[in-house]
Parts: sequence; structure tokens; C-alpha cells
Amino acid sequence: MVDVRLRPATPGDAAAVARIWHDGWRDGHLGNVPDALLAVRTPESFDVRAPQRVADTTVATVDGTVAGFVMVVDDEVEQVYVASTFRGLGVADHLLAEAERLVAQAGHAAAWLAVVAGNTRARRFYERNGWADEGPFGYEASAEDGVLTVPCQRYVKPAQEGPTAPDGTSR
Ligand SMILES: CC(C)(COP(=O)(O)OP(=O)(O)OC[C@H]1O[C@@H](n2cnc3c(N)ncnc32)[C@H](O)[C@@H]1OP(=O)(O)O)[C@@H](O)C(=O)NCCC(=O)NCCS
Repeated sequence: MVDVRLRPATPGDAAAVARIWHDGWRDGHLGNVPDALLAVRTPESFDVRAPQRVADTTVATVDGTVAGFVMVVDDEVEQVYVASTFRGLGVADHLLAEAERLVAQAGHAAAWLAVVAGNTRARRFYERNGWADEGPFGYEASAEDGVLTVPCQRYVKPAQEGPTAPDGTSR
């Protein structure tokens, strides 16, 4: 295990996020998504989207290097990505736990996410962390001129309540 620090992303993290996002997207999605989605997920598309999404992003750092990130929008854990050299080290567990905490903090009863069926490593990771597979659905992925519907599995997990004090208040 490594010493993982979490913090909200800043605009200065966008380039590192774009690189991890691009490389990880290919690892998880090549061969698992329609060609139409592959065609719009160019390297430049990640350079455009990462700076736009800074406010939704939490980064994990190891020795000051951005090792991975998560994006949360409302009750959706939208992206969980760890650079290949930092996989299998627990970085992703920290990111997912923080995403779950953010969803609960925003008052949602449950968190959800979409994962393509063929992304077996991610599915195993989510299941190990207590997420349940609710079955197939069509995820509306952003594309240049609107959305593309991508066959995915929907995973859910009840939002974790914080510890409750003896007087019934949350802390
Ligand atoms: C998904 C991701 C964040 C998980 O982080 P990670 O550090 O790789 O996760 P872990 O190694 O802790 O867990 C992965 C699990 O899959 C297993 N695994 C590893 N390679 C695998 C493979 N090729 N096929 C199936 N399972 C695999 C691991 O053994 C582990 O299971 P275990 O804990 O039961 O042994 C990371 O792999 C990643 O960034 N992938 C690319 C981007 C991506 O697909 N993101 C998710 C989009 S929905």
C-alpha cells in the first residue's frame, strides 16, 4: 500500500487528469463500446473535457504525483481512473470511498455508476467494494454533437450514513 492523499482538483491538474483519463479509457473500453464512441474519444477530446470538469473532480496523489481521479455529479460516480503504474495499490479504493462520501454528503440515498460489461477489472473492483450490479441499461455518454447511447451495466450502493451520536445527531 502507498500513502494516498485526496484533494479537490485545481485547473493545474487538468493536464494530468486528461492523460490518465485518455489512457485508462482505452484500457477499459477498447473492444467494449460501439465504434461511434471510440471515434469521438480522441486524445484531444480528453484535453477539452478535463479542464471543463475540474469542479467535479477529486484527485489522488502519491508523493505529490497525480495517481488517479474521480468525478462525482449529483448521485453519480461518473469517472474512476487510476494511472496504470498505480493500479492494484489501493489508490482506487480511496477514490471510490471519497466519491461515496460526497454522494452521501449531498443528501442522496444511494450512489450509482455505469460500467461497460466487458470492463471486467472495474466490475470486480466495484463488487469488491460492495457495489451491486442492477443489470444492463443504455448510458447516455456525452459526444461532440449530443449523446451516444452505450450499453452498460448499472451498479448501485446505498449512501453511507455518517456515525450517529448518542443524542441522535450526525457527526
Ligand atoms: C478500474 C480501476 C480504477 C480499478 O483500480 P485498480 O487499482 O486497478 O483496482 P484493484 O487492483 O484494487 O482491483 C481490481 C480487481 O480486478 C482484478 N483484476 C485485475 N486484472 C483483471 C483483469 N484483467 N480481469 C479481471 N479482473 C482483473 C484484480 O485482481 C482485483 O480483484 P481482487 O481484489 O479480487 O483481486 C483501474 O483499473 C482503472 O483505472 N482502470 C481503467 C479505467 C477504468 O476502466 N475505469 C472505470 C470506468 S467505469
